[in-house]
Amino acid sequence: MAAPTIGIHDICFATTGYVLDLAELAGHRGVPVQKYQRGLGQDSMSVPAEDEDIVTLAAAAAAPILATHGHDEIRTVLVATETGVDQSKAAGLYLLSLLDLPSSIRVVELKQACYSGTAAIQFAAAMVAREPGSRVLVIATDIARYDLDTAAEATQGAAAVAMLISADPAMLQLSPISGVYARDISDFWRPNHRSTPVVAGKESIAAYHDAVAGAWRDFHARGGRKFGDFAAHCYHQPFTQMAVKAHRELTRLFAAGAESEAAVLAGTLYNRKIGNCYTASCYLGLVSLLDHSGDLSGCPVAVVSYGSGCVAEVLELYPVPGYRARLRTELHRRTMTERTTVSYAEYRHLWNIQPPTDGSDYLLPDQRSGPFRLAAISGNRRIYERRRNAGSTKKSA
Ligand code: HMG
Repeated sequence: MAAPTIGIHDICFATTGYVLDLAELAGHRGVPVQKYQRGLGQDSMSVPAEDEDIVTLAAAAAAPILATHGHDEIRTVLVATETGVDQSKAAGLYLLSLLDLPSSIRVVELKQACYSGTAAIQFAAAMVAREPGSRVLVIATDIARYDLDTAAEATQGAAAVAMLISADPAMLQLSPISGVYARDISDFWRPNHRSTPVVAGKESIAAYHDAVAGAWRDFHARGGRKFGDFAAHCYHQPFTQMAVKAHRELTRLFAAGAESEAAVLAGTLYNRKIGNCYTASCYLGLVSLLDHSGDLSGCPVAVVSYGSGCVAEVLELYPVPGYRARLRTELHRRTMTERTTVSYAEYRHLWNIQPPTDGSDYLLPDQRSGPFRLAAISGNRRIYERRRNAGSTKKSA
């Protein structure tokens, strides 16, 4: 019996309710705005409201998928994040009540910097291969937060991308061939006592270049198609110029002819306005590519994932004929445009608000109109709410 094809049956992203224009940040930091817009390739960054976190973002990204497909076949929920809200309980467990998921389900959280969303997809594909009637809900969700007044501040951002992994996917087939690379380095990491990462900026850029080249070499050694034979490339984007630079360097390394920035740019358009979203970044890039390109049915698309520390992986995906009818482009555009612009002062205020670290109770103000919110921390428990306007996650006809 032929093995079923496995891949992404549906994909959707969510971001925060607030956004800061980087021109505003540049003005206050005394930096020419071109440094952010051209040097880093970033226009704005998503800013979380006080009552938003990786769980509310994850729920908002997954809800439209569940409303379309229901949850009957979902046997596993994998949440990939490096913004964990608990050292023990998996963030995905909060989704059971927020999204009406059944109890006959396994739930786990994965961590390896920005890479773990890709690991989640690979684990999900293996689970579906073992039980082809089942589906796995993978959600990559993160809030990128750096210290104020640092070079990294302009690369903050936040988003979640939810993906339904199944056999005979309607949107993207995942090739069984991938290329991986890992190395024990310290280019970016967040010790348990810190709420922001320690980052060696320039070293992290060099490490990214080395790791993605290593992953491509492994991909080719395993019989993967040539670098230059892909129709489009989606990269992990700590800032979108990183994708452009990595693509340029890989084109040179693999003698792939004239560098085509067009093969990269469609996959950077949402990221430019959202900022780094760690685990979700290369999949936000994938959504951006699909939402902003012509028909890519049957064309090979590379997804290049990098997580500091470090692990990189190259995936090969093929959009399935008919996938365009299933894109959520309108919803994604609304998600972007409905963000409320905050001033520099409002952004600083939000950044500086931290939940108490001594275990005391905390009520959060109702700040925005997203479908889910963190309402309180009470008795050390996180209390989430579904807003009345959240709609149902019950399958539509
Ligand atoms: P910086 O010190 O601001 O960098 O830090 P810069 O001075 O080198 O400027 C950046 C670019 O702007 C340069 O371009 C400048 O020339 C240009 P390049 O020379 O490299 O092509 N520039 C200008 N362009 C136009 N007009 C101007 C102008 N002025 C300067 N007037 C850095 C930048 C990325 C280091 C900093 O933002 C940082 O530390 N970010 C955090 C770390 C990071 O993003 N690393 C990326 C690789 S690691 C990764 O991707 C993993 C990660 O996502 C975490 C995880 O895995 O969990 C971070």
